[in-house]
Amino acid sequence: MKKVLVATDKPFAKEAVDGIQAKAKAAGYEVVLLEKYGTKDKLLAAVADVDAMIIRSDVADKEVIEAGKNLKIIVRAGAGFDNIDLNAATACNVVAMNTPGQNSNAVAELAIGLMIMAARNNYNGKSGSEIHGKKLGIYGYGNVGRLLGKYAMGFGMEVVAYDPFLTKEQIESTGAKQCTNLDDLFGTCHYISLHCPANDETKKSINMSKIGKMPKGATLINTARKEVIDEDDLKKVLAERPDFKYMADVAPECAAELKENYADRVFFTPKKLGAQTEEANVNAGIAAINQIVDYFENGNERFRLNK
Ligand code: 3PG
Repeated sequence: MKKVLVATDKPFAKEAVDGIQAKAKAAGYEVVLLEKYGTKDKLLAAVADVDAMIIRSDVADKEVIEAGKNLKIIVRAGAGFDNIDLNAATACNVVAMNTPGQNSNAVAELAIGLMIMAARNNYNGKSGSEIHGKKLGIYGYGNVGRLLGKYAMGFGMEVVAYDPFLTKEQIESTGAKQCTNLDDLFGTCHYISLHCPANDETKKSINMSKIGKMPKGATLINTARKEVIDEDDLKKVLAERPDFKYMADVAPECAAELKENYADRVFFTPKKLGAQTEEANVNAGIAAINQIVDYFENGNERFRLNK
């Protein structure tokens, strides 16, 4: 009987776990549940004898992958896969997949919520502003970015998107305007929302040359990854510009200091919770078990990342 480890330090909603169990049972597989495990040694022990593993932001590095002596597939129930060592997976003949799009709606809704929260000064009671009529720049126009664009247009925002992997036609068919220069995007938008991955090109790329260019009263929203921000530059801009706001679902290392100094202009969720809705958990969790079963039973590698 194949064993599927569900290793989620930040657990799925119960409905998602129940759905995963039901799908696995129907396929004749056993589910091993490892939630809130806290320390890596528990993950290393749990992965030792399983055939497949479902993770969220849980780190599947070389050590974890090598510890999975029977491991054949890892599915990241979500979009970003910067937590998987793809080279190690390939070296160990482990297929790595993600489940793109499955939790996008939850993240897009959170980005809207953070924009409104910023517009209302973190609900501190002082007169705020409205997002209607403002210009939103979306960096990364994938599944989350496009949904955010659609919702923002519903609020009457002007939407501009930057995505080096999409054509003008692909972007403009959604009703957004294309921007081909990131510096221009930052220089002209009241709100910027980040939806890019964290990789060698993007890490620390959101620095003074971009944040410093944002217009007066601008807000930067980050529901992507903390690594894309240059935190020293972020601190400088917050210190120099009392009009600038930063709202993130991926708290920076310096979160405590920023919260203490700029309570009305920064906000950080207690734990990355953009995708933490029952719906997103069910969508991503069920997609993950379906992909595992489809891989074992039919060899389907559609969402394979390490080709
Ligand atoms: C993703 O990349 O899918 C999101 O960042 C969600 O991550 P999570 O599963 O850890 O909440």
